[in-house]
Amino acid sequence: MAEYDYDVLVIGAGPGGYVAAIRAAQLGLKTACADGRATLGGTCLNVGCIPSKALLHGSELYDQAANGTMAKFGVMAAGVTLDLDAMQAEKALAVKELTGGIEFLFKKNKVTWLKGHATFADAHAVDVAGARVSAKHIVIATGSSVTPLPGVTVDNDGGVIVDSTGALALTKVPGHLAVIGGGVIGLELGSVWSRLGAKVTVVEYLDQLLPGMDGDVRKEAAKIFKKQGFDIKLGTKVTGVVANDGMATLTLEPAKGGTVETLEADVVLVAIGRRPNVDGLGLDAIGLTVNARGQIDTDHDFRTAVDGVWAVGDVIPGPMLAHKAEDEGIAVAENIAGLTGLVNHAVIPGVVYTAPEFAGVGLTEEAAKALGEVKVGKFPMMANSRAKTNRETDGFVKVIADAKTDRVLGVWIVASLAGTMIAEAALAMELGATSEDIAYTCHAHPTHAEALKEAAMAVMGKPIHM
Ligand code: FAD
Ligand code: NAI
Repeated sequence: MAEYDYDVLVIGAGPGGYVAAIRAAQLGLKTACADGRATLGGTCLNVGCIPSKALLHGSELYDQAANGTMAKFGVMAAGVTLDLDAMQAEKALAVKELTGGIEFLFKKNKVTWLKGHATFADAHAVDVAGARVSAKHIVIATGSSVTPLPGVTVDNDGGVIVDSTGALALTKVPGHLAVIGGGVIGLELGSVWSRLGAKVTVVEYLDQLLPGMDGDVRKEAAKIFKKQGFDIKLGTKVTGVVANDGMATLTLEPAKGGTVETLEADVVLVAIGRRPNVDGLGLDAIGLTVNARGQIDTDHDFRTAVDGVWAVGDVIPGPMLAHKAEDEGIAVAENIAGLTGLVNHAVIPGVVYTAPEFAGVGLTEEAAKALGEVKVGKFPMMANSRAKTNRETDGFVKVIADAKTDRVLGVWIVASLAGTMIAEAALAMELGATSEDIAYTCHAHPTHAEALKEAAMAVMGKPIHM
């Protein structure tokens, strides 16, 4: 009889976990994956990336039809109305299809789906759904959940104070949506409800939106969202939120201290970050501790401090992004199988899927300058022929290169298609490209991607169209 029930047991079926499980099975390992949710796909497919993108797409279509963008091109859509139930149904359908797709892939690859919350019994066994299941290798891919705001109670079941899960499921467009946190979730979901007619106020503690992004991008974000009608209160902290009679009152204070003010809203979205899921995992049983940020530390191979226990995704350090989790999922399975699984954490793109999109990969200009001399090339989307033709002229591309070697250190893009354009920059950086390599690569015309080529030419001070 085998020593263990499985070669590999993955805890969590989000992008980190389900990908690790599928790759492990592809490599011939007997694999199971446990998840506490009713459907596979984790945060990303159920209440994250996918439903948010469905609503961003739907709300953009509505905005274009209702607010004149289509009319500018002669597409006259009179009497445009919103059927929010239909938009929500389409979102739910996408989630159902994609989570069902993972179920299909599990069957195809012979990954056993263990339905239930898993708790460590020891380093080679977990208790799940009343049974003890053992494995030679256990991968923790438990993801993250919403960071609560102290003293503020979220009620996603029709309440006025919601987190991202509640904000994805509103059944009515709020008159006034107050968003606490000017990060990715606040701006994406703020955009959804703003396009559908809500007045949106974003309250951000720091003096700029989108922490972690390049300084120019952050400044541009504030300008763009203000232009889109957002009320943005930077350098402001929320010290309390009280729900009363279907309304909420927020207490605001300048981050540096000062006069307290109040703000009334129909719905409040709390979006101040996410924290790793380790509660109820039974880490004590295996003697594994978390770091000061509540994350599980690993080495480059994704091994934890406990032999046979590995970890990937949002639960370990690094950006909390689905594609980062997926790449780690592949790498951990390959390492378990005795191959060499690597993730280049210096080249993980990040995208905010608003209109325009905000994207970046590599170092910000501030971080690059702290390391040495740099050359920067910038090209406005206003001067890109395709963006101008499509009337999508907000934004720019910025290429940051090492002043001595010309190697590209970072690329930042604000553009309608920034999320798609950043893939080229990531590939270039992964292959160690110089700005000259990008500048002398032929780009199809007319495309938004030509703006990346021109920004790379601007590093040498020689863009053509500017
Ligand atoms: P998760 O996806 O969180 O999956 C972990 C799973 O493990 C969950 O299903 C959880 O229920 C389960 N679990 C936890 N503990 C246990 C246990 N003890 N036993 C069994 N199961 C357990 N990222 C992007 O890259 N692009 C986006 O566009 C994007 N949009 C987002 C939008 C929103 C609103 C949110 C909230 C997040 C978004 N993200 C996006 C982030 C992305 O969802 C996460 O980075 C990604 O899901 C992390 O994957 P993971 O596998 O580490 O964890
Ligand atoms: P975030 O970290 O992006 O932004 C949170 C913001 O809240 C920060 O700007 C922070 O300064 C601010 N803040 C914190 N406390 C505050 C307070 N008391 N008052 C006012 N502001 C306060 O976190 P967010 O938006 O919750 O998203 C969580 C994570 O989910 C993201 O970091 C990202 O990793 C992931 N995500 C990714 C998406 C994408 O890739 N497109 C989309 C949505 C989420």
